[in-house]
Amino acid sequence: MSRWAVILFLGVVHAGVRANVLSNSSVLVETVRQESEQQIVDGHRSGRFFPFYTIGRIANVPCTSPSGLSGTCLIAGECKDNGGLASGSCSTRTNQAVCCVYTKSCGGSTNLNSTYFTNSGYPGPYNGGGTCSFTVTPTSGICQLRIDFRTLSLVQPTGDGACNTDRLTITGGSPSVVPLCGENTGQHIYLNFVGSGPISIRVATDGGSSFNRLWNMELSQIACASAERAPVGCLQYYTDESGEISSFNYGLGANPGLTTVGTRGSRQLANTNYGICIRPAAARCSVTYSLPPTDRYAFTVTGDASAIDPALVGTAGVGMTGAACTTDYIIIPNPTGGGSDRYCGLGIGDVTSSARPFVVYTVTNGNETPDVANRGFRLLYEQNACAAV
Ligand SMILES: *[C@@H]1O[C@H](CO)[C@@H](O)[C@H](O)[C@H]1NC(C)=O
Ligand SMILES: *[C@@H]1O[C@H](CO)[C@@H](O)[C@H](O)[C@H]1NC(C)=O
Repeated sequence: MSRWAVILFLGVVHAGVRANVLSNSSVLVETVRQESEQQIVDGHRSGRFFPFYTIGRIANVPCTSPSGLSGTCLIAGECKDNGGLASGSCSTRTNQAVCCVYTKSCGGSTNLNSTYFTNSGYPGPYNGGGTCSFTVTPTSGICQLRIDFRTLSLVQPTGDGACNTDRLTITGGSPSVVPLCGENTGQHIYLNFVGSGPISIRVATDGGSSFNRLWNMELSQIACASAERAPVGCLQYYTDESGEISSFNYGLGANPGLTTVGTRGSRQLANTNYGICIRPAAARCSVTYSLPPTDRYAFTVTGDASAIDPALVGTAGVGMTGAACTTDYIIIPNPTGGGSDRYCGLGIGDVTSSARPFVVYTVTNGNETPDVANRGFRLLYEQNACAAV
């Protein structure tokens, strides 16, 4: 049957390993530029030299269930055999095809695309005390795992950004990811599989802290040859022409926790260093980043956010750039109009950059001294038309 005859392309397994600690912006940007050129080279190479293989009985036609969940179009019997739930029919030429949705919880594993990993009791909350793990093994021709946090609500970090009460750790993939906690609904990450090795996701919760934990992570396998694959160096990858990006655990309201020196804590997670990339849209040559107009604390990255006149928070005048930013900061490469590519402090003006790839780096150190009540950042982005020549 032709619907099972899926031709897969075996590309190069490209496990981009990059240095985790990069203290110099120009070095960091250069590293990513080289990696992205390298990836283009690899793409050509896989296209030219690697043969086609036919892998039988891989049904990987995606579908969407009536309630909006991602599934795979299968005959009802195979869906059941795979432990999936038939959720509406799907539009292929075959008879009796169903949109098969996989939902699994603690202790599970999968090699099937579009699997949802939830807390036990989901959609009800989990009150903590246990550890819950899930493992994803790639099939042939798969290079990346995209994890969409449809819901991810865990206990806030300490005031210094350490996930000590609850922690989500993801191991086995590349690059490595710091433990996550707090509110991350709507965030996502991309990881490279390392060869055919699995990626493990583990949520550890402290039963001593009463809190309604909730998670539902959509796990999508991305083929090596797919246009959906994130470029090397991008832990996050946004594909819309405009949208918003934010730091992990960004949210309204301060962290109730205190820093080690007893001041109001930060929502920023400690020891992060990653790229947030944006896919260039057709005929778009630059990106402008700006603060959301109604979210006053949307750029509170270093400094004392509680001591400053609320009318000034967010404005460029209370922002800092360049060598003044050494602990927590973002990098927007080659900003238009010159000036430093590093930003921190309690505000930021609009920044436009035409450097490729379109990327914002975020770096945080291990504590929040002497910062007070920081939230991290949330920036709107908008791609701009190429100038007429
Ligand atoms: C950053 O790296 C560039 C290029 O390697 C070098 O010229 C510059 O001196 C470095 N700056 C710092 C502060 O290390
Ligand atoms: C996995 O599913 C997603 C949609 O949920 C799709 O974009 C992706 O191409 C699928 N991967 C493969 C290898 O079919």
